[in-house]
Amino acid sequence: MNRNPQYSVIAGSGSYLPPRVVSNDDLAAELATRDIQTSDAWIVERTGIRQRHIADRGVTTSDLAVEAARRALDDAGLQPQDIDLVIVATSTPDFVFPSTACLLQARLGIKGGAAFDVQAVCSGFVYALTTADSFMRAGRSRHALVIGAEVFSRILDWNDRGTCVLFGDGAGAVVLSASEEPGILAAQLHADGSQTKILCAAGNVAYGEVVGDPFLRMDGQAVFKQAVTVLERSARAVCEEAGVTLDAVDLLIPHQANVRILNFLARKLDLPADKLVVTVDRHANTSAASVPLALDAARREGRAKAGQLVLMQGVGGGFTWGSVLARLTA
Ligand code: ACO
Repeated sequence: MNRNPQYSVIAGSGSYLPPRVVSNDDLAAELATRDIQTSDAWIVERTGIRQRHIADRGVTTSDLAVEAARRALDDAGLQPQDIDLVIVATSTPDFVFPSTACLLQARLGIKGGAAFDVQAVCSGFVYALTTADSFMRAGRSRHALVIGAEVFSRILDWNDRGTCVLFGDGAGAVVLSASEEPGILAAQLHADGSQTKILCAAGNVAYGEVVGDPFLRMDGQAVFKQAVTVLERSARAVCEEAGVTLDAVDLLIPHQANVRILNFLARKLDLPADKLVVTVDRHANTSAASVPLALDAARREGRAKAGQLVLMQGVGGGFTWGSVLARLTA
C-alpha cells in the first residue's frame, strides 16, 4: 500500500432502484382507502415529486446496495478483490448489527480491508465520501466502495400524509480510487446536534421490542428553512476552500428532498437551471441514496462528464449537512 499522502478520484458509479414504481395517483388511491386525502396536484406543487420506487416486503438495504455496488465496480473496471474499504451510508440498515457494509462485503466476495456504516441520514453519502477521501489522503485505502442505500419506506408512518408522500427507496454507489491527481478538491462536514427534534425516527429495539417511536417525524417548515440556509453557506465555503468561484461549478447535485429547496438554492447561488441536477421528481427523497443516485443518473444521461466540476451536497437529520467538490475524471 502506498502510504504517501495522495488524492482520490471517482472511478465509477452505479445505482439501483427497486422495480415497483408508485405514482402520486397510485399513492393517493391507496391512502384514500384509509380515508387519508392527498393528490398528485398537492404533491407536485409542494415537492416536485411525481413518483417513487418502493422495495417489496423482505427486500433489504443490502439487497439494493449490492446491485448498485456491482454496477459501480463494472463502471470502474474493477473486481471485488480490488476493494479495500466499504462504507455504506444508511439510516435503514438490515440489522442492528453487523453493519450493512459488512453484509455487503461478504455478498460481493470482498476479502479483507475495513467495512463500516455511516449514519448521517440524508447527509450520509457526503459524510461517507469525505471519510473515504480521508482514508485515501492518509494512504490507508486504494479503492473504496462508497454507497448510499435506503429502504425508507420501512420507517414511514403510512397514515401521515405530511411525510409518507415524500420518500422512496434506492441505492447509489461510487468507486473512489487513490490518485496522484486530485478528483475530490475539497469537502466539509457539519452537524448541529441541538436540532435533533425537527427530523427524527426516535425509536429503538430494546428488551425484545420496539421502544419509542419507530416512524420518521418531521417539522417540514423548520427543515425547509434550515436546509436552504446551510446548503447555501456550505456551497460557498467549500468553493472558497478549493479556491474556485461558484460560477466555475458545472453541476450542482444537492440532496434531493424537494424541488422547491433545489430551485431556491440554485437561485441563491446564482446558478442557472441547466447546472442543477433534479431527480426528486422520479425518485422522491431517498435519503442517503439521493446524491449518488442523482450523480449516476447525470453520468448515464451524459450530463456529468470527465473534466467537469461537480458540487455534491447533503442535508438531513441530526441536523447534519456537508458538501464535496469534485473534478470528475470518468
Ligand atoms: N396532501 C395534501 N395535503 C397535505 C399533505 C398531503 N400529502 N401533507 C400535508 N398537507 C396539508 C396539511 O395538513 C396542511 O393542511 P391545513 O392547512 O388544513 O392544516 C397543509 O397541507 C399545509 O401543510 P404544511 O405542512 O404547512 O405544508 P407545507 O407547505 O409546509 O409543505 C412540506 C409541506 C412539503 C413537507 C414542506 O414543509 C417542505 O418542503 N419541507 C421541507 C422538508 C422536506 O423536504 N423534508 C424531506 C425530508 S428532510 C430532508 O431530506 C433534509
